[in-house]
Amino acid sequence: MKSRRDLILEEMGLTPVWRLRDSAPGAEQAPVAAPAAIVEPSPARREAAQPAPITRHSSLVTDAGDRRATIMRMEWPGLKAAVASCVACPLHAKRNQTVFGVGDENADWLFVGEGPGAEEDALGEPFVGQAGRLLDSMLSAIKLKRGANVYIANVVKCRPPANRNPEPAEALACEPFLHRQIDLIRPKLIIALGKVAAANLLASDASVAGMRGKVHQYRGIPLIVTYHPAYLLRSLPEKAKAWADLCFAVRTMAGLGPRKTAG
Ligand code: URA
Repeated sequence: MKSRRDLILEEMGLTPVWRLRDSAPGAEQAPVAAPAAIVEPSPARREAAQPAPITRHSSLVTDAGDRRATIMRMEWPGLKAAVASCVACPLHAKRNQTVFGVGDENADWLFVGEGPGAEEDALGEPFVGQAGRLLDSMLSAIKLKRGANVYIANVVKCRPPANRNPEPAEALACEPFLHRQIDLIRPKLIIALGKVAAANLLASDASVAGMRGKVHQYRGIPLIVTYHPAYLLRSLPEKAKAWADLCFAVRTMAGLGPRKTAG
């Protein structure tokens, strides 16, 4: 007989319910992910994927560098305040509020999405809409829960209008905030949800299909790429692949050593 949870998820169009293979007899057999390969971003690709540097006006370069350096020294309260008052890109003009990120600030797991949608902009928390409910199901399938050893953040902290992808310049303006969040959290493993997150964290223009199934590195932290939950809602057949990615992430996490200490 189906559990109440299964029925609710089915009702939400989120079936099949995701379970770890050993969590229930006869549970879904997940496809096995490709063997892990450590992939370092190539400096040439990193450079190629970056938006063109500002070169015409050297004070702009310095301003951006100063701003980044200032942000990279902030502790949590200062960082939260800086995000809340940020006007560094045009996205600030239409936001109801910034969406900083949520969860355990000492989490081993960091999930990075793209940017807030309408519901996130209204509530100030990432992944609270339909895609967020799927993300919660995905977390629960690997015995994780938002807030408990899990942190959730986005590439941009303000809602891009009409749910479009953030422009490269918008992502670049927000980049120091995400970098500082990652430095403060020091997660053991980052999961990039979708192409925008992967492209910005890895400075790669490869497709999600081309990036999944491998362990990449973001500034020395292992990073795994999977599909964005909003994409999975539109492309149910890809859910099996995302499930394989999550199983791969669990195995990868199990093989990682203790957290790095500060400093
Ligand atoms: N999609 C994202 O990438 N982030 C959110 O916070 C919500 C939807």
